[in-house]
Amino acid sequence: MSVVVTAENLARHYEVGGGLFSKPGVVKALSHASFTIEAGKTLAVVGESGCGKSTLARLVTLIEEPTAGTLNIAGTDATPDNWDKLRDTVQIVFQDPYGSLNLRHRVGAILEEPLKINRPNMSAKERQAKAREMIELVGLRPEHYDRFPHMFSGGQRQRIAVARALMLEPKLLVLDEPVSALDLSIQSQVLNLLLDLQERLDLAYLFISHDLSVVRHVADDVVVMYLGRPVEFGSKDAVFSNPRHPYTKALLSATPSTEPNPDKKRIKLEGELPSPLAIPDGCPFAPRCWKAKDRCRAERPELMGDHPAACFYPEG
Ligand SMILES: Nc1ncnc2c1ncn2[C@@H]1O[C@H](COP(=O)(O)OP(=O)(O)OP(=O)(O)O)[C@@H](O)[C@H]1O
Ligand SMILES: [Mg+2]
Repeated sequence: MSVVVTAENLARHYEVGGGLFSKPGVVKALSHASFTIEAGKTLAVVGESGCGKSTLARLVTLIEEPTAGTLNIAGTDATPDNWDKLRDTVQIVFQDPYGSLNLRHRVGAILEEPLKINRPNMSAKERQAKAREMIELVGLRPEHYDRFPHMFSGGQRQRIAVARALMLEPKLLVLDEPVSALDLSIQSQVLNLLLDLQERLDLAYLFISHDLSVVRHVADDVVVMYLGRPVEFGSKDAVFSNPRHPYTKALLSATPSTEPNPDKKRIKLEGELPSPLAIPDGCPFAPRCWKAKDRCRAERPELMGDHPAACFYPEG
């Protein structure tokens, strides 16, 4: 198995404010994110809105530089000096294909654009052949080559976005809520397409979703994030069948499950998500945790062990 991406203690902090009437603050959008993803495998990132998922996506797709930590992609250190070299290797698919596709261009031109920019020696004929091949690979029809994005349904548009992301033959796809804007019935078609492409092309996926039923369908490993920090990491089976962090347990309890389970009680989280400008000392989840003790408010638990959870009093 070959490792495609390794992140160690990645962080992205933003300085905000500092105007005439406000003191500057630091938004800790992401801290201490460490993981690896192998070829052909999917690491899913889950957590509530604002927990840092898209920030992580921007770092891994070389849109933004981390403020701390290291990232290695396909054996190359992903420092800004090397970003150009790595552009082909990692690509991103966003939630909203309307926002990410150039609506004035036909599908053929949209798919060929990355080749025009990054493969200057390719002929127009070769580019077209590659685009047509990709159209077929993502389950669109040959005549779609000449159509405009507005002539497609949401699911088809997301297929176009996936096709474009694959044109440069990346090793890693970052998928930021790729099916969240789609109808439920279409979601599974697009997810199955992604799984099929992963197997055929041996792609590594960093799959971001707030939807645990989607994650259950696609993930190999899962990292649960809370307020910019990973709080639990493990294989999908370990995290779903034996959640260790109380936050993970609460998230899972709120997800409808296909298996009837009479014991399952929905855990309602008390209190509001703290502002990322004022992350509590100690365990950031403590103010909402029904198990929190003094130690949790004083000390910050680290991720440790085989199926680690950043908690002093884990479940199970
Ligand atoms: N450029 C920026 N400047 C200041 N704060 C930012 C910036 N980008 C993101 N943030 C903050 O960082 C935190 C994490 O944002 P992020 O977009 O990564 O969350 P997310 O998990 O993707 O949320 P969602 O599920 O809503 O997409 C948020 O509090 C956000 O407001
Ligand atoms: Mg996001």
